[in-house]
Amino acid sequence: MSPDAPILFFDSGVGGLSVVAPTRALIPSAPFIYAADSAGFPYGTKSEAEIAARVPALLGRLVERYRPRLVCIACNTASTIALSVVRAALDVPVVGTVPTIKPAALISKTRVIGVLGTDATVRQPYVDKLSAEYASDCIVIRHGSAELVTLAEAKLRGEPIAADAIKAAIAGLFTAPDGDRIDTVVLACTHFPLLEAELAAAAPHPVTFVDGSAGIARRVAHLTAGQDWPLVAPPGIAIFTRLDEDVEALSPALAACGFSEIVAL
Ligand code: DGL
Repeated sequence: MSPDAPILFFDSGVGGLSVVAPTRALIPSAPFIYAADSAGFPYGTKSEAEIAARVPALLGRLVERYRPRLVCIACNTASTIALSVVRAALDVPVVGTVPTIKPAALISKTRVIGVLGTDATVRQPYVDKLSAEYASDCIVIRHGSAELVTLAEAKLRGEPIAADAIKAAIAGLFTAPDGDRIDTVVLACTHFPLLEAELAAAAPHPVTFVDGSAGIARRVAHLTAGQDWPLVAPPGIAIFTRLDEDVEALSPALAACGFSEIVAL
């Protein structure tokens, strides 16, 4: 394993940056590559078939080109739909991101948990399985929002975010039957931790938010423990499947996360 072999993070957009930050804190000299499928964004409103075809094909090209030591699918939508297909297709370790229902069930006192994800994620059988396995004594209320994904991207472009827009996007979670008893909300989309402060301010009552980023960072660090790294991390590369003015507007946020070079796939 060359010390220069990178860790490749993948998402539809910039949501995966919420996973990059805690991972970098654990492995500071690791070379990082961030790939965003901007041409396919957003994933949450796409069909299972589209995602299951798109994600393994793109990751195959990325792995061939950049030879990463590990791939992290920093996207709940892609992971809950395509993780097993990607693992079967690639010859490198693949870490996925799935809704953190188990830790939510461990801390919920009211036994009513919210799962806030994309429309595609919240309808996945994977979420049924996690709920049955880890939260069978809880009421699990799922809510999908494409708007929050759009708002998270806008925030990272430096645009102002209207509090009312966040309120409207999460209203359905809390107005659902038993929604007034939710005390723990799983942020089941990697874009949403980027809006955690706004979500906390918009929630109709105080709730605890949980997400998978710290656990994924630990998993990546564990799987790469003992491997050789460069003495100093090289500048990160951000790859977009389509370069446009939105990507250009993201460059300060990307640079702040260590990705100073932006290229097209
Ligand atoms: N960040 C992604 C997720 O975790 C997907 C957002 C989207 O493209 O809809 O689900």
